[in-house]
Amino acid sequence: MDATQLRRAIARTPLAPVAAFPKRLARVARHDAKVLRISARWLVASREHHNYTYELTKLSRHHLAWFVSVVCDIPVKQVRGYVAEIESDDVLRHHIEQATATAARRGLADKHVHYARRVGWYAIVRATHPAHVVETGVDKGLGTCVLASALLRNAQEGHPGRVTSLDINPEAGYLAASEPWSEVVDLVIGDSIASIGALDRPVDLFLHDSDHSRAHEKREFDAVEPKLAPGAILLTDNVTSTNVLAEHAERTGRRFLAYRESPANHWYPGDGIGVAW
Ligand SMILES: C[S@@+](CC[C@H](N)C(=O)[O-])C[C@H]1O[C@@H](n2cnc3c(N)ncnc32)[C@H](O)[C@@H]1O
Repeated sequence: MDATQLRRAIARTPLAPVAAFPKRLARVARHDAKVLRISARWLVASREHHNYTYELTKLSRHHLAWFVSVVCDIPVKQVRGYVAEIESDDVLRHHIEQATATAARRGLADKHVHYARRVGWYAIVRATHPAHVVETGVDKGLGTCVLASALLRNAQEGHPGRVTSLDINPEAGYLAASEPWSEVVDLVIGDSIASIGALDRPVDLFLHDSDHSRAHEKREFDAVEPKLAPGAILLTDNVTSTNVLAEHAERTGRRFLAYRESPANHWYPGDGIGVAW
């Protein structure tokens, strides 16, 4: 009996898991050691304690471009152009770095700017030219800056728009408080459900990124439904945790798609973009 025949014979016996144990152990140990290495490096190098920022892997960036291409029905090349646009916006990058360095919460923020999936939000705004974007959950205002930046570019091309950004924390949004970004941002402090109820203009693009509990996410989509303009697009930042937007899409006769991001060199498994349209 040669080695292959012996392995096949063992695979048919109750001894198979014991024989495979060393190989399985080595595999999982290699994987876990990598996660531990990345985690240890992050604990020393990063200051973030929530709403982590990171770059996406190359493959994840490819998939994000195709995701936006399908949702917005535009060539993937055009999406890549939008992504390159935000990533090469040195004025915005410099502003975020400066504002972060002087902010009261600077001890809990990283110096370098990483947009991750937010470049997908940017590309969607550039492709669809919404007149009114609503973002729930602002935190420092990184996403707000990205959305505002897309709206400012749209305005230069003859498609003006504004973003209403809702957060319960009065300290939220400091990154988006400077011109020119603040010119297209209306920051509203209060619980998002009440703030959505008070919206007085139709919403073309809605992004849920506030309280990530299932119940709150559902309440937001229910609250915004009567406020939506015809053909409005709904986004969620919670798509790797809940099926709320997919269920909402099914109830309201929309299509639904999910993208899961993969952070590069970060322990966090990443979030994603859910879209109903
Ligand atoms: C994940 S952060 C938002 C991240 C942001 N969109 C970005 O791109 O970085 C979540 C934010 O939601 C806010 N929040 C939590 N519960 C809320 C509520 N009920 N209404 C409005 N904002 C809420 C928190 O204060 C926090 O700033």
